[in-house]
Amino acid sequence: MQQTMRDDRPIVLTGDRPTGPLHLGHYIGTLKSRIALQRTHRQYVLIADAQGLTDNASDPERIRRNIIEVALDYLAVGIDPAQTTICVQSALPALSELTLLYLNYVTVSRLERNPTIKDEIQTRGFGRDIPAGFLCYPVAQAADITGFKATVVPVGEDQVPIIEQTNEIVRRICRQAGRDVLPEAKAVVPALGRLPGIDGVAKMSKSLGNAIYLSAPPEEIKRAVRRMYTDPNHLRVSDPGRVEGNVVFTYLDAFDEDKGAVEGLKQHYRRGGLGDTAVKTRLESVLEALIAPIRERRTVLAQRPDDVLDVIRSGTARSRAVTQATLDEVRDALGLFSFGHSTEHIDHLTRAIEAAAH
Ligand code: TRP
Repeated sequence: MQQTMRDDRPIVLTGDRPTGPLHLGHYIGTLKSRIALQRTHRQYVLIADAQGLTDNASDPERIRRNIIEVALDYLAVGIDPAQTTICVQSALPALSELTLLYLNYVTVSRLERNPTIKDEIQTRGFGRDIPAGFLCYPVAQAADITGFKATVVPVGEDQVPIIEQTNEIVRRICRQAGRDVLPEAKAVVPALGRLPGIDGVAKMSKSLGNAIYLSAPPEEIKRAVRRMYTDPNHLRVSDPGRVEGNVVFTYLDAFDEDKGAVEGLKQHYRRGGLGDTAVKTRLESVLEALIAPIRERRTVLAQRPDDVLDVIRSGTARSRAVTQATLDEVRDALGLFSFGHSTEHIDHLTRAIEAAAH
């Protein structure tokens, strides 16, 4: 029999809603950390299709279609299935069961106060018609994280309140159980903060049309960089320009490895005499150098969809065992009924019947 090696590395869990292909915001936000973490941690990546449905209930087809797109992006960007387990959320029933349990340890008002949820309700324009599944997605996300017993969760800044709420649930479950059945998790946020869209709007997103995709062809990169928001008062090349809030420089900070060169460009731009076009040309080549190999790997992988499916199928099978084991432990720790341990319940009934007969 094969000897099972103990794996004591800390556990990482993170995920994405499959609502569209991944973009540079995802890359800076978490993909980069995942590529690094997979070498030193036991890493799981969740394609969160059930969560995707919480604000796309009228378009399940979109979610279904994008599962394979997101998987392609993962593999193309360098998430290595030999080091990272990729799985599909809705195919892990233990997570739904954990969600149902955890819902009893959260109040509706606490969910309504979650800053991420409040923000998202605003941007989605739900008004008073908030889908219950949407309001409760932080609870499902707590199930995702704890189902894998993850202690490290790479996420964008905007997700930090969700991790805080997860830890509240963990503490309540542990208190109820009287022991530390689940670990608390730590959010890992990118040092750079959030990458703005090409229009300078705070967040890069598909729905705002301000994204650059990891699969973007060269013309698309070029077009996006041309359209990028700079300093509106920098009219002539000779004018002094502002670097702060200038998206081109924000992107150079994020993606250009040559920090010295970027510093030089900033100084020149501030002084005057450096045109937007020159800076944009540099950014365009930096982005093309980053995206070209990703795009090429993606094209090759896209021709073998069955292999990609196999990766997520086997990852999901492994994850099913892990999450089911956690569910069993939590049920046991809370002292819930189980057919496996039913004799003591039956003994208790038998005793009651006997007592009644006397
Ligand atoms: N809510 C995350 C997002 O919108 C996606 C997600 C689902 C997630 N489950 C997760 C992130 C678990 C971290 C951990 O980006």
